[in-house]
Amino acid sequence: MNKAHELLTSFKARFGTGASIYRAPGRVNLIGEHTDYNDGLVMPAAIGFSCWVAIAPRDDRKLILYSQNYSEAYEADLDELGGRGSGHWTDYPLGVAWALQDAGYRLRGANLYIAGDVPLGAGLSSSAAIEVSTGYSLLLCQRAENEFVGARVGIMDQFVSCHGRAGHALLIDCRSLEYRSLRLPPKVSLVICNTMVKHKLQASEYNLRRAECEEAVRKLSAALPGIRSLRDVSLEQLAENRSLLSETLYRRCRHVISENWRVRSVADLFERGKTDGLREVMAASHDSLRDDYEVSCQELDAMVEIAGRQRGFYGARMTGGGFGGCTINFVDVERAGEFQRRVSAGYETAMGLRPDIYICEASQGAELVETAAENLPKVTR
Ligand code: GLA
Repeated sequence: MNKAHELLTSFKARFGTGASIYRAPGRVNLIGEHTDYNDGLVMPAAIGFSCWVAIAPRDDRKLILYSQNYSEAYEADLDELGGRGSGHWTDYPLGVAWALQDAGYRLRGANLYIAGDVPLGAGLSSSAAIEVSTGYSLLLCQRAENEFVGARVGIMDQFVSCHGRAGHALLIDCRSLEYRSLRLPPKVSLVICNTMVKHKLQASEYNLRRAECEEAVRKLSAALPGIRSLRDVSLEQLAENRSLLSETLYRRCRHVISENWRVRSVADLFERGKTDGLREVMAASHDSLRDDYEVSCQELDAMVEIAGRQRGFYGARMTGGGFGGCTINFVDVERAGEFQRRVSAGYETAMGLRPDIYICEASQGAELVETAAENLPKVTR
């Protein structure tokens, strides 16, 4: 039974009607970490793990949510959403509903059956997948997570969950929101290694990094009037104005500004279908995240180190917000299975934890999978 059919059957059993089905994928970021909220460049790809939402309207103002993953139902009233989450899985769909209503959309009640296979808490954007599949409305989804869930994240995760393209990475300019898809080199597999250290999008550290970047921009603008974000500062300007910043702020800026350059160089390689030099750029990104931005951890460092010893290896680094979660690895297609076995054994010996290792393909972004025409929820403004 395919996923859509399975969801329709489960929805019918629970709510007694047909439904429309939306799907939105998780993502892995290939390069460009902690640059999105600095108006910079990122290069994520959507992956073959998704969140699915079956939905049908109700005649009242209730949202009845059911999560297959948590085997849990939840009832909310559209008129009593408030502006804050409660730390529960329902924050993501309710945050989207709140953001839509706050933007002036009048929603009607609905039954939602939610099921996903994006690994939870692994830094592969299961949250963006649930937001996009429930909301399917990019900027509003971003607002939902910032103000409702409480992590001041950038635009990358939701953007690629919407616009991902099979076999391609997206090069996104997070200032203009212009983007281009880049074909991944055909001989390369995307292998994601999960450290199994739980990644609670460590909201406080994440928000602190973001505040540090903003503080650095304020300080630098004394000498560089007109800058709006670190996107506007070059490495030369940073070096010239080092005395305006503390050592920590200087290193935070050096990471963000150099990372934008690394995104450009990987884009340039992929545009030419090449992989030479990829290993060095990925290693420089990891080192910069570890030493200058200080968002790596022992497990991520070990995973990258073990990967670097394998055959068919084209480069690796931590991916996502940090403090656990996954690494992204470029591996020769022919060697991906062997890589998976060897890294798994190596990491288990080193850390005493068995990692999950996924051999992935870049996949398509959000889509309407199934329409129950008579059931389409109407949104009026
Ligand atoms: C998290 C956030 C993204 C981005 C990354 C770091 O995944 O959700 O917006 O800032 O961290 O690159």
